[in-house]
Amino acid sequence: MDFLTTQQTFELYDKFVIANYTRQPLVIVRGQGSYVWDADGKRYLDLFSGWAVTGLGHCHPKLVAAIKDQADTLLFMANHLYTQPQARLAQLVSENSFGGKCFFCNSGAEANEAALKLARLATPKEKYKTITFEHSFHGRTFGAISATAQSKYHQGFQPLLAGFTYLPLNDLDAVLAAVDDETCAILVEPIQGEGGVNFATPEFLTGLRELCDDRGLILIFDEVQTGVGRTGKMFAYQHTGVVPDVMTLAKHLGGGVAIGCLEAKPEVAAYLKPGTHASTFGGNCIAAAAGCAVMETILADHLLENTNRLGAYAMTRLREFQQRQPKITAVRGVGLMIGVELAMGGAEVVKKCLAKGLLTNCTHDTVLRLMPPLTISQAELDEGIAILESALSEV
Ligand SMILES: Cc1ncc(COP(=O)(O)O)c(C=O)c1O
Repeated sequence: MDFLTTQQTFELYDKFVIANYTRQPLVIVRGQGSYVWDADGKRYLDLFSGWAVTGLGHCHPKLVAAIKDQADTLLFMANHLYTQPQARLAQLVSENSFGGKCFFCNSGAEANEAALKLARLATPKEKYKTITFEHSFHGRTFGAISATAQSKYHQGFQPLLAGFTYLPLNDLDAVLAAVDDETCAILVEPIQGEGGVNFATPEFLTGLRELCDDRGLILIFDEVQTGVGRTGKMFAYQHTGVVPDVMTLAKHLGGGVAIGCLEAKPEVAAYLKPGTHASTFGGNCIAAAAGCAVMETILADHLLENTNRLGAYAMTRLREFQQRQPKITAVRGVGLMIGVELAMGGAEVVKKCLAKGLLTNCTHDTVLRLMPPLTISQAELDEGIAILESALSEV
């Protein structure tokens, strides 16, 4: 596709692609490891991984080989039959988490839709309400935006799906007061990503677990962004030991191939019977083979260790930087999911970084978010932090 110039690509987008994204003016044509290249040959260090998708870096040889091999063998077979990659991926997810059963779909929003439906099926029929938390993000489909407690995502789409109650994160008393006989589920991100890298405390998650056990509610953890190694454990809930009834995954599970997954404890999963839910492409051979390669590579190449070591290193470097740079008000994170809170809007910093050859992101207006590949080296992190320092000093 490199027969298009940058300008020609922009023109085709202008004419034929709906302008629903704010895009940086860059056409990326190639990626390798922690770097990507634009159509004019300029190299960029990618410390964002496309919203935490390319966690093995770009074009990891094991992932590419698995996709090519599967494409040569069987490209697609629908869910009226069985396929080997889907079976293997479900086993990998289950055996590396809480022993649940999996339903596969194609995105994080779809995984959350499936979770919301499952919570209704698995509880008495008068129960339909779900509690979610301020600054959460669960996706863009109707159920998912209704669950998302940020009004900016609701504009123009009211009335939303009924039954969602939004409460402050880490306020257990508010949750205890809000649960009633019609509540079926609590949906929470163990660490909010889009909301600005905010942690649910272990005490809060423990309290939610106890409440769900007492009141027969389904506890759903949205690990779409935190899952599959990002935080230095395979799944973020493993930092606290609080086990959900249902967990949703997407993003890094496919390493760049579209996938979504819901895992539920077997007794909850049993409610998703034939006819209740489905997806044509869910768990398709290519996506599932990619998922297997991602999880197997994390395990075989000890990438969780790299994530923990270099995550701690990056946090130390960034906190030293914070001492010299008053524009930084906080640095928080775990593993390679890091938020740098600024005393100002971050959009200009992201633009400056881009001009200097660094891909990063700003969320919640003021939080620079770094989510480098789990394969990153210390030298690459140093390079990225140096660019960030120089960009911040210039805005
Ligand atoms: C925590 C969380 N849940 C759900 C989603 C939605 O995922 P998708 O864009 O794949 O639908 C996102 C996307 O950023 C997310 O961060």
